[in-house]
Amino acid sequence: MTANDSKRKTRVTCAPSLAPYLKEELEALGFECLSMDKTGVEINASTKDAMMLNLHLRTAFHVLQRFADINCRNADELYSEAKRLPWDRVIDPDGFLSITSNVRNETITNSMFPNMRLKDAICDKLTSTIGKRPDAGSSTEGMVVSMHWVDNKARIYLNMTGRKLSDRGYRKMPFMAPMRETIAAAVLMEMKYDGSRPLVVPMCGSGTIAIEAALIAKQRAPGLLRSNYGCTKWLGADTEAWAQMRSDAKKLQVKADPAPIIATDIEEEAIDATRKNAVTAGVDHLIDFHVCDFAETPMPEECGDVVLHGEYGVRLGDEDELISTYKRIGDYLKTDCAGWDGFIFTSGKPLIGAIRLKVSKRTPFVNAEIDCRLLRYELYKGTRVVEAPRS
Ligand SMILES: C[S@@+](CC[C@H](N)C(=O)[O-])C[C@H]1O[C@@H](n2cnc3c(N)ncnc32)[C@H](O)[C@@H]1O
Repeated sequence: MTANDSKRKTRVTCAPSLAPYLKEELEALGFECLSMDKTGVEINASTKDAMMLNLHLRTAFHVLQRFADINCRNADELYSEAKRLPWDRVIDPDGFLSITSNVRNETITNSMFPNMRLKDAICDKLTSTIGKRPDAGSSTEGMVVSMHWVDNKARIYLNMTGRKLSDRGYRKMPFMAPMRETIAAAVLMEMKYDGSRPLVVPMCGSGTIAIEAALIAKQRAPGLLRSNYGCTKWLGADTEAWAQMRSDAKKLQVKADPAPIIATDIEEEAIDATRKNAVTAGVDHLIDFHVCDFAETPMPEECGDVVLHGEYGVRLGDEDELISTYKRIGDYLKTDCAGWDGFIFTSGKPLIGAIRLKVSKRTPFVNAEIDCRLLRYELYKGTRVVEAPRS
C-alpha cells in the first residue's frame, strides 16, 4: 500500500443529517466532494489522506477506500467473484479480519451470511496463493472489509477507520441519553461556535457538547484521543507516516484558552460523568462544572451562546412534566440570557410550542433515530413573541 499511494474513490460516511457538515469539513481540508447523499460524501483520497481524515474529521463515522465493484446475484456468486480479487496485495495474513456489510438482495435473509461468504472468499484466496490466512471474527479492531451490496452490485471497501470515529474514546461515563459525539460537533458547527465567545451548556448530561466545544476551540484533532485505526492494519501500512501525522496534528492545537465554557446539570452524577469524561479528553481545565437547576446556571458577563439538550419525552420523561420544564426554559432564555444566542436541541411540537419564543432558525437533525430540531433564538432584551408550534 505504500508503493503507490494514488488517489482513489473514497466514501466518508456519517449519521443521517450530518452529510452537509461533513462536506463542509472535507472542503475545509481541501477535498472536492464528488457527490453527497444522506449518509456520506464521496471524494478522491490517497491512503495518507485517509489517515489524516481519521485524525481531523469531527462529524464522520468511517473513511472507506473503494477496493472493487463486483456483480453478484447471490452469495455463491459473491464468493466466486470476491475470490478473484487481489486480496494478497492488501490483507496482512498475520492480522485480524472482520467484515461489515449493508445488504439489500432478495436472496439474502440472514444478514451474517454474506459476511461469512466474503470472509471465506478472502481467506480461501490467501490460503491458496500464499498458504496463510488471517484470524477472523467480529471485532473491528483489525482490518475491516466493508461491503455495500444492493440487488446484483456489491461495492467492496477497505475500511480505513475500524471502530466509528464518533467513538472518540473519552466518554467512559455515558450518564442518560447522551448525544452522539459527531452530532454534538455538528450542532456546534451549526452554531458557528469557535471558542471566541462564552458557551453555556445547562442540562449537560455527560458533557458531550461542552467537551466537543473545548476540542473545537483548541483546534484539537479529535482523532488524537484514541490510537487504534484501520489505516494502520493493512499490509504495508505506512506506520511512520501515521506517527508523523499524529505528531503534526498535536502541534496544530492553539495555545490560547477559549472563552469560558460552563457545563451544569441538576444531577450530581451527570456532573461527575462530565468531569471524568473531560479529564479523559484532556479538556477539564477549560470547563467550569456546577450542579444546579438550569435556571441557576452562573452566566458570564460577556454574552455568548447557550445551548440546551433536555429530555424530549420519546425515550425519557413524561410529556406533561416536560412541557412545564420547557415553559421554564423559555422563561430562563428570556430573562437570564437576554443578549445571548440561545439554542435548544429537541423533538416534538408540544415542547417546542411551550418555549413561547420566536424561533429564528430550525435545523433538522436525527439523533438516535429520532427526528430532532436545533432551534435558534436571538434573545434580544424586549418583548416575548408567542409562537404557534410548528415541527
Ligand atoms: C438528554 S440529557 C443531556 C445529554 C447530553 N447532551 C449528553 O450528551 O450527555 C438531559 C439532561 O438534563 C438534565 N436535567 C433535567 N432536568 C434538569 C433541570 N431542571 N435542570 C438541569 N438539568 C436538568 C438531566 O439530568 C440530563 O442529564
